[in-house]
Amino acid sequence: PGPVLVDQLGRPLRDLRISVTDRCNFRCTYCMPRDKFGREHAFLAHDEILRYEEIARLAQVFRGLGVEKIRLTGGEPLMRKHLDRLVAMLAQIPGLDLTLTTNGALLARHAAALKAAGLKRVTISLDALDEAVFRSMSDAECSVSEVLAGIDAAAAAGLGPLKVNMVVRRGVNDHQILPMARHFRGSGHILRFIEYMDVGASNGWRMDDVLPAREILTRIASEFPLEAIDRDYPGEVAERWRYADGGGEIGVIASVTQAFCRDCTRLRLSPEGKLFTCLFASAGHDMRALLREERSNAELAAWIGAVWQARGDRYSELRGQASASAQKIEMSYIGG
Ligand code: GTP
Ligand code: 5AD
Ligand code: SF4
Ligand code: SF4
Repeated sequence: PGPVLVDQLGRPLRDLRISVTDRCNFRCTYCMPRDKFGREHAFLAHDEILRYEEIARLAQVFRGLGVEKIRLTGGEPLMRKHLDRLVAMLAQIPGLDLTLTTNGALLARHAAALKAAGLKRVTISLDALDEAVFRSMSDAECSVSEVLAGIDAAAAAGLGPLKVNMVVRRGVNDHQILPMARHFRGSGHILRFIEYMDVGASNGWRMDDVLPAREILTRIASEFPLEAIDRDYPGEVAERWRYADGGGEIGVIASVTQAFCRDCTRLRLSPEGKLFTCLFASAGHDMRALLREERSNAELAAWIGAVWQARGDRYSELRGQASASAQKIEMSYIGG
């Protein structure tokens, strides 16, 4: 292997998040509000999105550039047909942590096949246990019990330790923090609370909607004493805590109040083959044309390397300043 590839701020490239589709079976009000993502919304056409062979080839090139973890996202990744076939192709690449973020609705159906194909871990999003709160946030024909069944199926298939992500919006689901903590305590799953972010342009975000991670931790600690634990790996986005009585681990992702750009080693690939150097980037670097021309893997690697070396993004550290980007891509398209 050659010298480590670093960007303008000295950050190495370690994680690749691959969004396999811009479609989703949920219409979370903070991500794909139905008035903006209704019947008339133009989703990407089948021939616009990368084929599995193309994704797998790129993944191999990325592995050669130092990528150690690949996370499949969407939209909802399980909306893409035969996702286990892609997983099987990626599982052939040695030395990769291979994982998936899903809303869980289709997980019970697919967990065993994903595991068999070589998926290592799964992260499930769940914003509330209360049915009415859940429905008001997800705006979908899916019940909490279906997501919980997905979580159980994933655990039974051996895809754990599972992580459960809860996006916290003040005044919307913050009263669900304690019920969620109580529910997942002792389950072996790691519940993580995410500060609501100003991603995309659809959710009308305001700082008042954010419940700071410190406050989330104070609320939980009032019922269950907590102890800090060291991070698992450099650049981990979640700050880790454990219940003092041995009830397991939780995490907070404080991307608004404690930006973690300094250690950000993530690159994102959109469904149609654009590379985004930040969750808040306004434009991507199109790879699809390159992929569909007669280019060697070495040429692709050089092209990606140049994109990474030019990267200076640190949106969350600049949030609110004039230099922060105004036009942002949608979360539903790039997968968080
Ligand atoms: P593991 O530690 O491997 O389990 O994964 P992860 O925490 O990197 O992945 P996950 O998709 O669960 O990330 C959780 C959430 O953190 C995402 O959905 C985003 O909301 C947020 N997040 C992840 N990466 C970034 C990032 O680079 N920038 C910002 N601002 N937020 C991020
Ligand atoms: N702020 C924080 N997290 C978000 N997610 C989606 N939109 C936002 C937002 N505005 C989360 C989802 C899921 C992950 C992919 O990103 O709930 O856990
Ligand atoms: Fe909700 Fe995730 Fe779908 Fe967005 S992509 S609408 S956050 S389930
Ligand atoms: Fe990385 Fe951009 Fe998120 Fe900062 S805002 S952590 S640079 S993706």
